[in-house]
Amino acid sequence: MAARRPLIAGNWKMFKGPGETGSFCRALRDADLGDVDVVVCPPYVSLAEAVQALAGTDIAVAAQNVHWAADGAFTGEIAASMLRELGVYGAIVGHSERRQFFGETDETVAKRIAAAEAAGLHVIACVGETEAEREAGETEAVLRRQVEAILPVADGEGLVLAYEPVWAIGTGKTATPEIAQEAHAFIRSLLDVPILYGGSVKPDNAAVLMGQPDVDGALVGGASLDVESFAAICQAASHS
Ligand code: PGA
Repeated sequence: MAARRPLIAGNWKMFKGPGETGSFCRALRDADLGDVDVVVCPPYVSLAEAVQALAGTDIAVAAQNVHWAADGAFTGEIAASMLRELGVYGAIVGHSERRQFFGETDETVAKRIAAAEAAGLHVIACVGETEAEREAGETEAVLRRQVEAILPVADGEGLVLAYEPVWAIGTGKTATPEIAQEAHAFIRSLLDVPILYGGSVKPDNAAVLMGQPDVDGALVGGASLDVESFAAICQAASHS
């Protein structure tokens, strides 16, 4: 398939308040990131700082979630229009930590994606099987269910998927390039948009993962928290 410009997104999870975000982003501005699209996804309270510190660069800022309603009585939630007002470019939706620990379902993922797209936000929608599901031979069934839930709201342009096998997230157990490629090809057969790989991506495994034909970039957790390792992953993707 035609080579797509790789996209490397850093999912900071619940790390870095505004102060640390400012210094990280200023260092990132000066780093050599190669020829890739770069997105950082700080916690909500650090988004404004990131947008400001990265103004005038090509590095985009995205949130880690977004609510489906325009506004309303939803304590603790953030609307897409509020993110737009901050100058945020997009949002991650359906991360497995949201699915596992905060009751996110295929249905709420679809609602969030639809609202984000309607507001003009780009979306990184996450899918992936658990270890038990993989061992039970259910990987394709799970991916099919998760991707099919997204299909009705997949608006093309601004939508990116991330394949993140749950067993590889934060565990140091990266999917082999073959496992990643197989899952990405399967996902692409259901929905042909850029597909990032996520799950223990590090500077030393990024190149081989990014070298797979259906891997279009990475969603990086732990290794995105350090400018040097994040830049090294961007460089690896740039050369793959
Ligand atoms: P990890 O996280 O790189 O720390 O495994 C990836 C993710 O959860 O997006």
